[in-house]
Amino acid sequence: MREGALSTETGTGTATLVALEDVSKRFLQGRREVQALQGVTFGVVPGELVVIVGASGCGKSTLLKIVAGLVKPTSGAVRKTSAVEGARGIGMVFQDPVLLPWRSVLKNVLLPTEVIQVPDARARAMELLEHVGLDSFEQALPHQLSGGMQQRVSICRALLPDPPLLLMDEPFGALDAPRPTRPSCSSPTASRKPSSWPTGSW
Ligand SMILES: Nc1ncnc2c1ncn2[C@@H]1O[C@H](COP(=O)(O)OP(=O)(O)OP(=O)(O)O)[C@@H](O)[C@H]1O
Ligand SMILES: [Mg+2]
Repeated sequence: MREGALSTETGTGTATLVALEDVSKRFLQGRREVQALQGVTFGVVPGELVVIVGASGCGKSTLLKIVAGLVKPTSGAVRKTSAVEGARGIGMVFQDPVLLPWRSVLKNVLLPTEVIQVPDARARAMELLEHVGLDSFEQALPHQLSGGMQQRVSICRALLPDPPLLLMDEPFGALDAPRPTRPSCSSPTASRKPSSWPTGSW
């Protein structure tokens, strides 16, 4: 394992929503091989908030994309409950907002309804936008928003289907709420605590 590569071992319970077992990921960059993850064994149970901390390039985004099913591991297994496996099972906030530039804020938040049914989707989208202080921007286009505002839209989009598993890749990096100094450790750590949705000023 190269220095800084992410390797986390935590206990898994019977109600584990998602479990990674000895997951490794190796990328090819031309002729060069990059070991992004090695031997990651990891589980998340309902109601749990798990924070992955590590230096830039240690594999955090890769780990989240593997959990989301967007990247295939080189080896190891990813097990999910049927609720998480389903179409509305995982909400993902990417490191960049990845909004569709031609769609309004509201229509970006409503994007999941193109593939799944969300009860009272429009009302829920407006409620989420109000919660993050963007209800008066519902008709704005992404390029008319600041980076932090765009990220708030992407958070609303991920929350719209009320997924049992929410993956957030440095979601508050572009926001101006007070936060701790960026960790400088070279060894990544995972910390756990009972889930409580961050309700501070977004
Ligand atoms: N699609 C890809 N093709 C080739 N290499 C990749 C790819 N995605 C990631 N990598 C490599 O995998 C390693 C881990 O990348 P990753 O994006 O997971 O890091 P990270 O911990 O999220 O970093 P940061 O904190 O800067 O976002 C890096 O060395 C990166 O170059
Ligand atoms: Mg990343």
